[in-house]
Amino acid sequence: MGLYYDEPLEIVSGKGSRVTDASGRSYLDFFCGILTNMLGYDVPEVREAVERQLATGIVHTSTLYLIRQQVELAEKIAALSGIENAKVFFTNSGTEANETALLLATVARRSSQVLALRNSYHGRSFAAAAITGNRAWKSSQLTPVGVHYLHGTDRELPAFAGMSDAEYISAAAADLRYVLATATAGDVACFIAEPLQGVGGFAQPPDGLFAAYQEIFAAHGILFISDEVQTGWGRTGEHFWGIGAHGVTPDMMTFAKGLGNGFAIGGVVARSDLMDGPQANGISTFGGNPLSTTAAAATLDYVLSHDLQRNAAVLGTMIIGGLREAAAPLAVVGDVRGKGLMFAIDLVDPVTGAPSPALAVRMLEETRERGLLIGKGGLYGHALRMAPPLNITETEASEGLGILTDALRAVNAEATGGTK
Ligand SMILES: Cc1ncc(COP(=O)(O)O)c(C=O)c1O
Repeated sequence: MGLYYDEPLEIVSGKGSRVTDASGRSYLDFFCGILTNMLGYDVPEVREAVERQLATGIVHTSTLYLIRQQVELAEKIAALSGIENAKVFFTNSGTEANETALLLATVARRSSQVLALRNSYHGRSFAAAAITGNRAWKSSQLTPVGVHYLHGTDRELPAFAGMSDAEYISAAAADLRYVLATATAGDVACFIAEPLQGVGGFAQPPDGLFAAYQEIFAAHGILFISDEVQTGWGRTGEHFWGIGAHGVTPDMMTFAKGLGNGFAIGGVVARSDLMDGPQANGISTFGGNPLSTTAAAATLDYVLSHDLQRNAAVLGTMIIGGLREAAAPLAVVGDVRGKGLMFAIDLVDPVTGAPSPALAVRMLEETRERGLLIGKGGLYGHALRMAPPLNITETEASEGLGILTDALRAVNAEATGGTK
């Protein structure tokens, strides 16, 4: 595990979109505990719902007994999923959600072959690490599943240079057909992908890529799992689930992070025939417990009743547009990308254009200095990742944009000796 900053930060309190550290300094938070404090801090609707649950004396009962909030939350998520006859299983984390989805898919297909994307991250357990395609987070080469990696977020490779979206999609789909024909051992269980790669630096496939893949999967009976751990609940602005950008309804989606606004909850929503596939008992002792499902239900209700997907679309467009404009003359910025309130900036060497993790680290320090918390990621650790609370105000969005712009200019000046 690695800590951010030369002088590590201890966050001791939070309110709205701001947190305060142990020395009393306050920061606008554009990373939110890695996209997990989706509504920021101390939201009365969530806190009061949790306090009411605590007052009942019940934090845990186990799934041997009915948990009303769990059932109601499952019904809401099933309805929101767009998956026909959907059922939900709750876990404690995104890793566990992906493990569950892999279990369901491999049981249904009687196959342990999985397709994933290069540069992906799906969690830290044995199978989740096995389907992860980002070297920095792939902790073992041992694996319980056979994995083949597909293209999707690697357009910088020389083979794809200069291609339009349509050309790249067609090249990636041709490669998928080739992988199926040449590299796999017959029936493949499933494909799993993040619509925008979180840890991978918010790298995004062109819209429609997964529709092209889905056509091929359908012909082979291959199941589609969308890992919505970072992209769900309206985060990308244009759609409620990140996968919406591709016009595809997956067979399963996994979720975690933001749903509980900090309370530990994850899960899978899947076609009921898949969810009911394993012919054995299965429980998660803590999964879907009364406290986390209460927090999650209050969070989800807040997102829906305040139309935060729209807020993500409007303020995300404003910030991303502002960043593109500010970055245009800056040699240290390689790319600005994102959707809604999920956006990234690549830092590059101003002379060679090579990814610069060192400048990304400088940006973390410069933004902290100016009172803003951001994250980083990407294959080379050179992408700054920002994901403010979905309920951020326009004033806070402008403030964050201003700090990012100012810090970028300072880092650019430092790296170029004051010239471009
Ligand atoms: C897309 C994605 N999937 C899965 C996970 C794993 O979730 P967790 O850390 O809750 O196990 C993460 C965590 O960062 C993630 O970003």
